[in-house]
Formats: sequence, C-alpha cells, structure tokens
Amino acid sequence: MRHLLSTKDLSSSDAIRILDTAEEMSAVNEREVRKLPALRGRTVVNLFFEDSTRTRISFEAAAKRLSADVINFAAKGSSVSKGESLKDTAQTLEAIGADAVVVRHPASGAAQRLATTDWISAAVINAGDGTHEHPTQALLDAFTLRRHWSRLHGTGPGGVDLAGVRVAIVGDVLHSRVARSNVWLLTTLGAHVTLVAPPTLLPIGVEHWPCAVSYDLDAVIAQRPDAIMMLRVQAERMNASYFPSTGEYARRWGLGDERFARLDELGLKDTVILHPGPMVRGLEISSAAADSARSQVLRQVANGVSVRMAVMYLLMSSGLSGLDPTDAHAK
Ligand code: CP
Repeated sequence: MRHLLSTKDLSSSDAIRILDTAEEMSAVNEREVRKLPALRGRTVVNLFFEDSTRTRISFEAAAKRLSADVINFAAKGSSVSKGESLKDTAQTLEAIGADAVVVRHPASGAAQRLATTDWISAAVINAGDGTHEHPTQALLDAFTLRRHWSRLHGTGPGGVDLAGVRVAIVGDVLHSRVARSNVWLLTTLGAHVTLVAPPTLLPIGVEHWPCAVSYDLDAVIAQRPDAIMMLRVQAERMNASYFPSTGEYARRWGLGDERFARLDELGLKDTVILHPGPMVRGLEISSAAADSARSQVLRQVANGVSVRMAVMYLLMSSGLSGLDPTDAHAK
C-alpha cells in the first residue's frame, strides 16, 4: 500500500493491519512515550484547501510523535488565491522535501489525482475530498468501535472484529464523505450498516450500496443498534431547496433529549454515540447526548492520533511488522 485514498479499495487484511498497528501506537501513547523515532528525517506536508480542526491537528500530532518534520499549508493566505494550481502547489511542496502529502480538498477525486499522476512521488493520504471519502475518519471510527466491543466482551484491545455489529449512520448522507468511507470500511469488517436520512439527503444510487436505508430514525433505534453515528449537516455544500426546515430536521433526524432518553427506556445500555465533528448542537445532537457517558466523540479524536500514526508509519517506513514500544530510541 503506497497511498491511502479511500476505504472502498482497502482490503480487510490491510484495514485490520492498520487497526492493529494503531493499537500498538495507542499503547505507546498511553505509556506517555513522547516520541518514536520511526519517521526521523522524513517530512509530512499537511496540504489543506478546506478548513479543519481535528484532522489537521491530529495528523500534525501523529507525525510529530513519529519524529517527522511537519509543514502545514493552508490554501487561505497562500498563492492559491493568485490562481496557483493543485499540481504546481504540490510540486512546490515536494521540491521543499515532502515524503508524504496529507491532502484535504473540496473537489472529490483531488487526492486520487495527486496520487495517480506523475506530479509528485510522495505518499498521498486523503484527509477528505469533497463528498467522496475521508478514510482516516472511518478508520478511527472503526478503531473506536472495535475498542468499545473488545472492552465489552472482556477481550484485549483489538481482540474482536466488527462482525455482526449494527451501526446506524444518521443525517446528511448526501454530502458526507464520512458516511461513504464508513459504509465501505464497516461492511468490509463485517458490520451491518443502516443509513438514516431525509429522502432529499440520500445520494442517487444509494440502493446499490452494501447497507440498509431508512427515513425513520425511531424505527431504526427500535431495532436496537449497537452504535449511532450522527453526521454533520454540511451547510457549506447544501442547497436550501432540498434541506428540510431546521425544526423538522432536528425533530425527525436529530438525536435530541427525548430520543436520547429513549435509549435508556429501551434498555440499550451498551449503545454508543459517535459524531465525527464538528457538531452542530441542537440540530444534529443535543448536549445531553453529546456529553453523555455513551458519547465516544472525544475518544474518536484521541484515537485519531493513533490511527494516523499507524497510517503514516505503514505508508512511509519499510517496516510493516509493528513497533516495539520498548525501543531504546523512544524518548
Ligand atoms: N472530522 C473532521 O474531519 O473534522 P475536521 O473538519 O475538524 O477536520
């Protein structure tokens, strides 16, 4: 594996290898080892043409924990505003010495374009391209779910896969690269996924995806999902003509206080709540739900660092056999 562009083309064994390596990284992080020497002398460029809080900072933290040098590039304030192309921008950064480029771009396919032309030779990691894919988000979601289940079933971290786990993904599926990456990855790992959305916020052709589809969140909750993943309403990509009113959206597709309380009433004691962030509280999710013991939101963020360490390590180093946390060079 040279690039990470999508989860659709990720085999089960590659996905599990990333998740298992992330467990090793997490064990190192939990032992408060500040840095591993794995990528010393290598340079990671964060090439962000869209805003980000979690993904950019997480990649930066992950690269630094592996001792890589990090260059952060944001399109705002750069020569992109003078008309410089993606190709020229990427080649400029490679000339500066990038070994890996982490790219976020509003155009679906931008990461693929960087990886499959001869513009650059660096490893390309897709950090979100348009409405297409956000593979590291799905990997950190799968990692979070796998950890939750392994704790629940009393095995060690990574000891259970996601076979048979039922996941409801709820909200603005139409614009969500997170939903797409999760559908491909979670089903590859054996989970059963149900998408829940207003009819106008489902993509054309969704009936051919390897998942169930519903418009009725209460009916899906009554089927006792193991995890409910709420999605962000992507106002910046939304055409108001196909968005229900905010009141109707919150009432029918939001995880508000009443619906959240129903999880207890139904005895769903182990059902967890995920959200990729940023959350729009009051529309997609209430504070009671977001801040509850069921919420995995901050665990997702923390796990993201371990998962991104694993991805960069596997793509950028020749060693694929995992790390020895007691490595004498660790400091
Ligand atoms: N989940 C996610 O991609 O968040 P950011 O947009 O803050 O990176």
